[in-house]
Amino acid sequence: MSYRVLIADDFEDMRELLEFVFAGEMGFRTVTVDSGNAAIETLKRDSSFDLIFTDLNMPDGSGLDLFKAYQEMNLNCPFMVLSGDKPEQHPALRGPTVEWIAKPFDISNIIARVAKLKDQFELPSDSYVPVSISLLKHIGQIEIPLFIRINNEKYVRLTNGATVFNQDEFEKYQGRGLRYLYIESGSADEFIAAYRKKVLSLDAWNEVKPGDHDLVSLNTELLKNLKNLLGWEDKVVELAKDSIQKALCLAKNHPTLQSVFQQFHKIERYGFADHCTLTLMVSCGLLRAMGYQDEMSLAKMTFASVLHDMSVTDQIYEQKPKLIKRILAVDKNSRETQVVFEHTVRASELCAKWDFCPPEVDQIILYHHERPDGRGFPFGRTAADLSFLSSVFIFAEDLSDFFIASLGKPNLQMFLESRKSVYTNGHFKAIYLAFEIAANAAASTSEAA
Ligand SMILES: [Fe+2]
Ligand SMILES: [Fe+2]
Repeated sequence: MSYRVLIADDFEDMRELLEFVFAGEMGFRTVTVDSGNAAIETLKRDSSFDLIFTDLNMPDGSGLDLFKAYQEMNLNCPFMVLSGDKPEQHPALRGPTVEWIAKPFDISNIIARVAKLKDQFELPSDSYVPVSISLLKHIGQIEIPLFIRINNEKYVRLTNGATVFNQDEFEKYQGRGLRYLYIESGSADEFIAAYRKKVLSLDAWNEVKPGDHDLVSLNTELLKNLKNLLGWEDKVVELAKDSIQKALCLAKNHPTLQSVFQQFHKIERYGFADHCTLTLMVSCGLLRAMGYQDEMSLAKMTFASVLHDMSVTDQIYEQKPKLIKRILAVDKNSRETQVVFEHTVRASELCAKWDFCPPEVDQIILYHHERPDGRGFPFGRTAADLSFLSSVFIFAEDLSDFFIASLGKPNLQMFLESRKSVYTNGHFKAIYLAFEIAANAAASTSEAA
């Protein structure tokens, strides 16, 4: 016999993920609805659920409304509430069967609670787990094999992994009347991890609304100066400013990230905000110049800019240029040098854990001190082994450091000349070219004027 869970959440992505977690982790049969009132209607028709899992704030009937109906119907299955609020804020939503799960973006917490319930319910684990085709479409790129169910005992492998599941694929299966495909239950954790990174991070990014735009005072003059030197539109500055504010807003609301947020305000980190925003602005400008303007690439670059040096302490941050020189001179002996040597790895590990952090940010951060000729650290990778976004970031940080070192009045021709023999391979070649075109065009316009 299979157990049943009623899931209520107004947010479609969340419903799909919860449906997958409950079906995948526990073999529950799921019924999902998009509001508290729809959940109440469902319970009136059939109240034989083994678990109710609900969001608290929903426009059409809240989790509290649902709880009141649950009490009136004298139900006593576990009632789990997903909310960013503290239980103390809602004294009416209490009882021996009520459990609170903290929001936002902490699916690992839900999985831990579900695992605990699993012992309580003692469900046999199935070897295949259903995944809705709309969930597959959301993720887009699926790295694990997908199966189709013939009957209870028979499943046939459709793909061997690395599948692009786009609108066409979605329509193909929908046209055949299929709502679900299947994955092996052993891959469920991997699948959830991919979902958390790809879907929840973009939702977090799109949802965040920086209330006040002064989360950090940015050096707008510096940004404008660079923008004029490169002949980029005002939009590039606006985009960089907005994106940094968005990322800082997310950081501010996230307990484990508050220290990162504070780094932007510290006297000890004088110039840190400039370093990060300039790097971001150059990245944004280069991406636009090269035809990559999607939200996801922008979000990745923003998080990489904000978080790449987060694991370096204030004291060490001040001496970073000196310490990097020592690392490059193959002298890693002191503790401080070691901290700088490892800072890419530490920051990357943290990013890999955070749901709100888009995929690939951990990789961009991990390789941000690598150089095209293999002389960077800590891995000594070369251009051929660095992704496009990694390469853009490395180039952008190089330019931003050059810009700050020239006190905001850089000679871009000098930069181009000195980097000519450096950025010759892999993605760096195209990035250097895009930058050269912008710099030359801007120089000839200002000469003409
Ligand atoms: Fe940096
Ligand atoms: Fe760094």
